[in-house]
Amino acid sequence: MALGDFLQQLDGLASDAEAAFTAAADTEQLEAARVEFLGAKSGRLKATQKQMGAVDKTDKPAAGKRLNETKQRVDAAFQAAQQRVAAGEQVRRSSSQFVDTSLPGVRPELGHLHPITQTIEELKDIMGRLGFSVADGPEIEDERHNFEALNIPLAHPARDPLENFYLATAEKTSADVLLLRSQTSTVQIRVMEQTPPPIRIISLGRVYRPDTADATHYPMFFQMEGLWVDKHVTMADLKTVLRLFATSYLGRDVHVRFRPSFFPFTEPSVEADMSWGDKWIEFGGAGMVDPNVLSAVGYDPEEVSGFAFGLGIERLCMRRHGITDIREFYRNDVRFLHQF
Ligand code: PHE
Repeated sequence: MALGDFLQQLDGLASDAEAAFTAAADTEQLEAARVEFLGAKSGRLKATQKQMGAVDKTDKPAAGKRLNETKQRVDAAFQAAQQRVAAGEQVRRSSSQFVDTSLPGVRPELGHLHPITQTIEELKDIMGRLGFSVADGPEIEDERHNFEALNIPLAHPARDPLENFYLATAEKTSADVLLLRSQTSTVQIRVMEQTPPPIRIISLGRVYRPDTADATHYPMFFQMEGLWVDKHVTMADLKTVLRLFATSYLGRDVHVRFRPSFFPFTEPSVEADMSWGDKWIEFGGAGMVDPNVLSAVGYDPEEVSGFAFGLGIERLCMRRHGITDIREFYRNDVRFLHQF
């Protein structure tokens, strides 16, 4: 074979390869071009190399030199194309993560207050307008505040272990007996022990009783305690305050009714019912603070009198919203909670 023909073949091969590598748009096309020109078995470079044998012996050094140059050109073109394709793919990958800042955002879910917490806030607000300030007491109580000072003697059935959550305290001396408070009336005692009359407070919080959970009972629930002690406080004041409270919370056409009842710490005692629509519902107990209770905290029953009441907070919230099962409050199903 004439040297001229061989060199021409090499030059043609090099420019074909350069064109193919430059045209390769992605890894696949580039790989196809690589196999066509640089393939170890049947690539065109390999094939041309084989034809070296047919070149005249004297022309071999010149032919070999051009062959090497051609190899280098083709390799260089391949490497350049490889870099270009890799860089392109990088850009494509990152552009798929591109954030379109003009799209409407995803609104983060905000929590909101539990319906009982919302009710508590509203009750504080209503009673605040009637001049009652908020007092607090512990949920773990001693027997003095839960029973004794409230005129509930040792033998009283309300102190039965089956009716209360007593804590397993180390020493069962009477000062050490503790329990989860069964009523917020404990706070009446705590406030009166600390403060001379007049007193006008409410206290809202959890109370605990070992009741089986059903639609109207739960072993933990919330009460709002009210206490007003001053000179000449009467039963009429009690009814007025409860009426104003009930109409503020439930609406104008709510009525309040008293039924005679008994509590060791009030005399006389009543059950307070409210009607809204055609049904009377019991909301809690109330009465005039028993003189024994006033004496137990160092007040003079000849000087001051007072009323107290304890209402179930869940019942109020259930009545307002038409909730029929107290357990809904404590299941914490978001489909329920979302509605408030
Ligand atoms: N503590 C009583 C109860 O839990 C309610 C009550 C409070 C009654 C204040 C009278 C006065 O049932």
